[in-house]
Amino acid sequence: MADLAAPIEAMLLRALDSEVVTGDGCPALLADAMRYALMAPGKRLRPALVLMAGQVCGIDPHSEAAWQLAPAVAAVEMIHAYSLIHDDLPAMDDDDLRRGRPTVHLQFDEATAILAGDALLTAAFATLADGIRDPALVGPAVRHLGIAAGATALVGGQSDDLQAERDQAGQCDNDWTSDEPGRLAALAHLEAIHRRKTGALIDASLALGGILAGADALTRKNLSNYAVDLGLAFQVVDDLLDTTSTADAMGKQVGKDAARGKLTYPGLLGVEASREKAVQLTESAVSHARLLGDGAWRLIKLAGYVLERTH
Ligand code: IPE
Ligand code: IPE
Ligand code: MG
Ligand code: MG
Ligand code: MG
Repeated sequence: MADLAAPIEAMLLRALDSEVVTGDGCPALLADAMRYALMAPGKRLRPALVLMAGQVCGIDPHSEAAWQLAPAVAAVEMIHAYSLIHDDLPAMDDDDLRRGRPTVHLQFDEATAILAGDALLTAAFATLADGIRDPALVGPAVRHLGIAAGATALVGGQSDDLQAERDQAGQCDNDWTSDEPGRLAALAHLEAIHRRKTGALIDASLALGGILAGADALTRKNLSNYAVDLGLAFQVVDDLLDTTSTADAMGKQVGKDAARGKLTYPGLLGVEASREKAVQLTESAVSHARLLGDGAWRLIKLAGYVLERTH
């Protein structure tokens, strides 16, 4: 993904600086907090997925043509950055470190963090509507991202993630793991959480890249099949890294999931079986990417990276 950083950063900056996002009427404090969150050094996985889907459809990410994907590149990272600001709030995961820096509510204040999140969330849609060149594509793109970011997907997953934490806190012991039906039900519930809170935006990133690049129906289906496996694998690995990595490597606190009683893959299956699950999912993702032709080489490499990543 390293060579995609330059175009992605340029696309993010252009969108953030646009009149409809931080122009007239946007208070300086709010703009500062939005910039702090969006431009912090993240991995830019979701923007990269937009460009990779474009490449599958013949758009070289380093060409001028790649700018037709810029609204989606910026929009998915805006949604992601907003979701991280809110995820870190005291009322949610209560974290103090993100991307190696103090979280937005500590660097600024809680109200500013909430509002910067609100502003990035809404800016994503303004960016799509303002920047997509073909008016016929605005509706499908906005619809897709709106659903992925909404109550049946990202927000719903976050809500159930917190509810599972509350449920755990109310239990004297993890009796749902003591019998097989209980364990299977917990696993299905956990998978449903991860597919929504993380998988949906990963799927939307590839879908938006496909929509803006004019992908045909079969390509879009194969991109989606890949995304579904990659998205779950990505969050399984996030859970694993929370138990096996360090704050220095991750740029965020570790060990928090167990401390908060989160429902996680390593918590439910153990480290070894979780790792095996991630391997299976990335292998399956690769099998879908192989159906996408030569332009999918980055997607194939990315599956390996998601498995081996250290932050
Ligand atoms: C963190 O996402 C939140 C999850 C959905 C696991 P990333 O691991 O992509 O975070 P950044 O963008 O690199 O900071
Ligand atoms: C975050 O999941 C998912 C979203 C922000 C939508 P986590 O709570 O596991 O992410 P980290 O570990 O704080 O990055
Ligand atoms: Mg969380
Ligand atoms: Mg969190
Ligand atoms: Mg996590």
